[in-house]
Amino acid sequence: MEQNVSQIYTSLGRLTLNSPVTIASGTFALENLDFMAQDYLGAYVCKTITRYPKKGNPPPRLFETEAGLLNSIGLQNPGLDKFINDDLPILRETLTTPLIVSFSGSSLNEFKLMLESLEQNEGIDGYELNVSCPNVENEGIAFGVDPEIVYKLCALLAPLTNRELIIKLSPNVTDIAVIAKAAEDGGATSISLINTIWGMAIDIQSGKSMLKKGIGGYSGIGIKPLALALTYRAAKAVDIPIIAMGGIYSWQDALEFFWAGASAVALGTANFIDPLAVPKVYEGIDNFLRERNCTLNEIIGKCEV
Ligand SMILES: Cc1cc2nc3c(=O)[nH]c(=O)nc-3n(C[C@H](O)[C@H](O)[C@H](O)COP(=O)(O)O)c2cc1C
Repeated sequence: MEQNVSQIYTSLGRLTLNSPVTIASGTFALENLDFMAQDYLGAYVCKTITRYPKKGNPPPRLFETEAGLLNSIGLQNPGLDKFINDDLPILRETLTTPLIVSFSGSSLNEFKLMLESLEQNEGIDGYELNVSCPNVENEGIAFGVDPEIVYKLCALLAPLTNRELIIKLSPNVTDIAVIAKAAEDGGATSISLINTIWGMAIDIQSGKSMLKKGIGGYSGIGIKPLALALTYRAAKAVDIPIIAMGGIYSWQDALEFFWAGASAVALGTANFIDPLAVPKVYEGIDNFLRERNCTLNEIIGKCEV
């Protein structure tokens, strides 16, 4: 769709984005771009891929709560080879905005092998490491909860790429500041947060859980205050840029995250409610900055407490 968009630039570690509004992995189909100009979108982040194909969890695996969404999709994806051979050429052909490939491994070595394969391919601007998954070398405990593992992972991958290296942090941790610092010390060039938090819903008549898997990931408006607090804490702990997400539906939501310290935001659950959320949020930020006659940089991290 052709439209003239006045750009609001923002910087990540190695990438300058034409828009501070991006999308959260797993929540935005490529087809959504048929309805909006890509100039509104700072970057396209694909659904997390794993080394081998994954069928995901059995249904029901989505449940809408009174304040957000529960999901237990379970990283359904075609696997690395199919992604590289089939999906990547389509993404390359379709996208004019930077492509961030989200991927996840089950061990440090698997993350490394995946990065090495992806590095052989053109048309990728950055990576988002999804560390909310179990580490088979560490009793299945998620990579993202252990600062030492987060440091090791970033230190292992950083020397292997000149592309943007984003690590996506899990909110299910005791102190996000320690994890964020470990990522920065290891060589991540930016941080994204937050992934979903644990959530559950139960049918009171049958006593059955609404998700077949029982517990799932909770996203959307209900997690916004938590996401904002974690963004604020992480931003105070590190100097690398932050891409914030978690319950951002409107331009007003987005601005709170910029004040808290985010250099860019990502819309997730909002895309299911309104496929045109990205341009609407963009326009709202643009109007706000024009009316105040200020730049985004004058807002980022300037929240007063
Ligand atoms: C249906 C669904 C699928 C998701 N799939 C992924 C995924 O593949 N990889 C990932 O890192 N995060 C995934 N997420 C998490 C989102 O990217 C995002 O971090 C989270 O939903 C919080 O943002 P939101 O409240 O704006 O949705 C998924 C979320 C939803 C709702």
